[in-house]
Amino acid sequence: MPEKKAQIILELAQAIGDQLGMSELLGALNAALSSCIHFDAITIMLLEGDTVSSYCAHAEGFARLPGESLEAFVDRYASIMKVQPPPLKLSVSHHPISEMMKSATPYMALDLESERRFESDEPLFNAQFRSYIDLPLMKQGQLIGTIKFLSKEKGSYTDTQIRLLHDVAKIVAISVSNALAYEEIKSLKEQLLLENSVLQEDIVQRSIYEEIVGSSTSLHRVLATIEKVAQTDSTVLITGETGTGKELVAHAIHRRSSRSERALVKVNCAALPAELIASELFGHEKGAFTGALQQRVGRFEAANGGTIFLDEIAELSPEIQVSLLRVLQEKEFERVGGNRTIKTDARVIAATNKNLRDEVNAGRFRLDLFYRLNVFPIQVPPLRERVTDIPVLVDYFAARLARRTGKKISQIEKQSLSAMQRYAWPGNIRELQNVIERCVILAEGEILRVDPAMLPQEEPSVVRVPVLTGVGLDRKAQIEAVLRQTRGKVYGPQGAAAHLGLPATTLDSQIRSLGIKKHHFK
Ligand SMILES: Nc1ncnc2c1ncn2[C@@H]1O[C@H](COP(=O)(O)OP(=O)(O)O)[C@@H](O)[C@H]1O
Ligand SMILES: [Mg+2]
Repeated sequence: MPEKKAQIILELAQAIGDQLGMSELLGALNAALSSCIHFDAITIMLLEGDTVSSYCAHAEGFARLPGESLEAFVDRYASIMKVQPPPLKLSVSHHPISEMMKSATPYMALDLESERRFESDEPLFNAQFRSYIDLPLMKQGQLIGTIKFLSKEKGSYTDTQIRLLHDVAKIVAISVSNALAYEEIKSLKEQLLLENSVLQEDIVQRSIYEEIVGSSTSLHRVLATIEKVAQTDSTVLITGETGTGKELVAHAIHRRSSRSERALVKVNCAALPAELIASELFGHEKGAFTGALQQRVGRFEAANGGTIFLDEIAELSPEIQVSLLRVLQEKEFERVGGNRTIKTDARVIAATNKNLRDEVNAGRFRLDLFYRLNVFPIQVPPLRERVTDIPVLVDYFAARLARRTGKKISQIEKQSLSAMQRYAWPGNIRELQNVIERCVILAEGEILRVDPAMLPQEEPSVVRVPVLTGVGLDRKAQIEAVLRQTRGKVYGPQGAAAHLGLPATTLDSQIRSLGIKKHHFK
């Protein structure tokens, strides 16, 4: 017997090692056991709270079809046997497992004809089984289910046979709990994959706008325009105060265009001295000017097939304005110091925080160039005109900065949020971003608070100066009078622009064109 036992355990281990399905495993087990005990069927039930459910079954001479569910298998078996299919799930009190819950020992029904203690015995008896031995399946001292060996003959088991089945049950228990863990992992993995794909869709959805955050209607209007214009090759002129997201809009247009695979080349027209900007934009030939030691490819060439983003376009000198006009009209240019005409296919996106019409009126910007640029204007509204974007932006920046600084911010203080919504944000979203950055760094708990000193509110005592054009005061004096009242402040609800009933950008350019020094009023 000991050799036989070793043989059976080995065969069982072999079957497990072959990674058979659970019902094949039971088949292999039954075959291995047949040399010392005969059984006609084996079933495994699992404990789930107050119930036990069928997990697996094997019937001798009755193979499970590939891919057949346990339920279909049991139904098929029952219909061939011309019996009622047994329930796949029943209360623990109707099953010998209720005995094993008290003590983890085998339960034997040696003659079902004379005694059927449990309700679960009835369908077994009807299916012509006459005896069985049911053994607990234990995992780390916990009862997880039972394995039942059924016979069509009345039964009697020797102690040795019971001990053998006990050892078999131990191995089966390991195998079952591995299978369960595997199934759990598999379903978790499927769920994870699903979540991942949803997340990825989310990422795609968001990256369309390159993290342009906001829910206000005016921002949605901008997003809708981006969507429309991106697909064309039209020149776009983006206007809006500093920090409103003009560059972000330019990127979004490029990303959404058929040119997205090619470069987006940015030129800041204000950052370069006038003498260098031509060479920057158009390139130069070797020796074109002192210091031009090498031939240089300009930004328009680099942007060929892609997009060129001309930021702060209002700052271009009159000469460059002429050259740019030619590029826009003819799609060609020459390098500085060269006479070969170079063709370019670069889509132009320009941006400015000035009112270009005012610049034209003041004689600083060419009207024909303005028309060429203004093919598709996009006006990005200042933050104070879309206060409903503030909560989402604050959330977004706070979460991003918290992640970067390893902090946890769970809430924004209500008062701080309303203070932010009252504030005029002359620096717009860039300023908001900076304020949030400072607050996150300073934050001690999980609640984000904004120090009111970061949001200087204008004194409400400033007297409104009526707009009195042509009542003696000339325009310059009138603006200066208002600036004196507002201490040089142009923007915001208490700023000079609001007093004069003008868009701040318009007033700003009037101030510049009249040569008023607003900082003198501070
Ligand atoms: N709607 C927005 N959502 C998220 N970040 C924004 C948004 N608008 C602007 N920003 C951020 O604010 C800063 C200023 O934007 P930018 O495009 O450089 O403004 P502009 O070119 O108009 O001065 C950038 O860091 C930008 O990423
Ligand atoms: Mg900018």
